[in-house]
Amino acid sequence: MDPNMMNIHNLESPEKLEGWLDFLEAAFKEKGTPRHYFEAHVKNDPEFDPSQVWVVEKDGSILSTLRLFSRRIYVDGDEVTMFGVGEVSTRPDARGQGLASKLLSHVVSVLQDNKQYAIGCLHSSRKHLQEFYGRRGWQSVPVEYADLSATVDSRQLAQTQPSPLLVVHEVDWKNLDHVRAMSSLYECRMSCCNGPVVRRASTLHDLAYWQNWIGLTDGVCGFLAMSSDRQQALAYCLIKTTTAPVCDSPRRIDLAELCYARSHAASRDGPVPGDAASGLATVAATECLRNCFLSCTSTDLQATQQHTAEVVISMPKTLFDDAVFSAALSSLGLVRAEMASRMDNGFMFILLDQSALSGSAQQRVTSAGREEESSQSPAMSKLLAPLVFSRLDLF
Ligand SMILES: CC(C)(COP(=O)(O)OP(=O)(O)OC[C@H]1O[C@@H](n2cnc3c(N)ncnc32)[C@H](O)[C@@H]1OP(=O)(O)O)[C@@H](O)C(=O)NCCC(=O)NCCS
Repeated sequence: MDPNMMNIHNLESPEKLEGWLDFLEAAFKEKGTPRHYFEAHVKNDPEFDPSQVWVVEKDGSILSTLRLFSRRIYVDGDEVTMFGVGEVSTRPDARGQGLASKLLSHVVSVLQDNKQYAIGCLHSSRKHLQEFYGRRGWQSVPVEYADLSATVDSRQLAQTQPSPLLVVHEVDWKNLDHVRAMSSLYECRMSCCNGPVVRRASTLHDLAYWQNWIGLTDGVCGFLAMSSDRQQALAYCLIKTTTAPVCDSPRRIDLAELCYARSHAASRDGPVPGDAASGLATVAATECLRNCFLSCTSTDLQATQQHTAEVVISMPKTLFDDAVFSAALSSLGLVRAEMASRMDNGFMFILLDQSALSGSAQQRVTSAGREEESSQSPAMSKLLAPLVFSRLDLF
């Protein structure tokens, strides 16, 4: 198809969404992504608008598509507007003709012109697609993950007496107090990092992101620790497990988020020895993790009628290096477990509007640009590394 003759447009009305979902279901069939994944992306995203769906059409049929996600992320302590790109796909019989490339560059140039977003982000787990996006100006910002093989001993975990200073709740996503408590802990922990999505639950619209986008993710489970007078949120932890119980192989637990009150941790690096207040953050984090591990292994333990379960706890390395988290794992007896390190090169970024960044962030990009020829580390890595990005925000 002559690219100049391509009919590229966005969906203006919701009526065309069903047909678009049919298209995605067929295009991702070989990859095994089910339709409900795309449906949830529409239904659970409070920012969703049909105009974010872009298509290449011929004779009224969709040949290729992508959709945008509207987010803000923290960079250098500032909030920066970001668009995510997802559901990139071309009808199998129309592949290899440049349709996805043309659509992507068309959409990026539209966004560049209207200056709505500073940064673009996408994620691709496959190397050839990372190369495909790399050839189109997207730069990978590697994220290191740690996989901790551990034995969860339910009897040992259940024996520990919870601290009288706090109460732990399983997260109830309908309870706005729970959501607001998590939101303030998240902001306190994440706003100084580069990359986390801004999730301030200050309006009902923003609360919906927590309740729907995060809370309705398949397999997500969380615990929240409050002070015993219920006045203060101390810590929360969110994990994601595989849905089907796997009794004969280690269950994989994605530890997506662990946030705690900074006032209870003496510094960015965690508690200072002897500081009684900082100890409370560690106790609260420990309690949340203990409940999470018990909760997500209980099905396996019942099925096998055993009290120990082998698990692989997968988490971003930055989380593992956090002193509160390390101390919490140590209290749970999980530190001697084996750990493997894994790089994810799939997070890719593009910079649209450098002027929207803070002064220091602009300087980093500019100096990286000057060094780029000789440097191994491209500008987006200089800007965002170490990248912190929760799996639960992934689009
Ligand atoms: C990925 C996909 C969207 C590409 O669509 P397309 O319209 O064929 O894309 P284009 O014709 O513009 O470009 C094809 C590019 O993909 C590369 N490519 C596609 N399949 C490849 C493969 N198996 N191995 C290596 N490269 C491959 C081609 O080399 C080409 O890149 P280049 O032009 O830089 O050399 C399409 O293959 C698809 O729908 N796949 C299934 C859904 C999917 O995986 N989406 C990606 C989610 S991140």
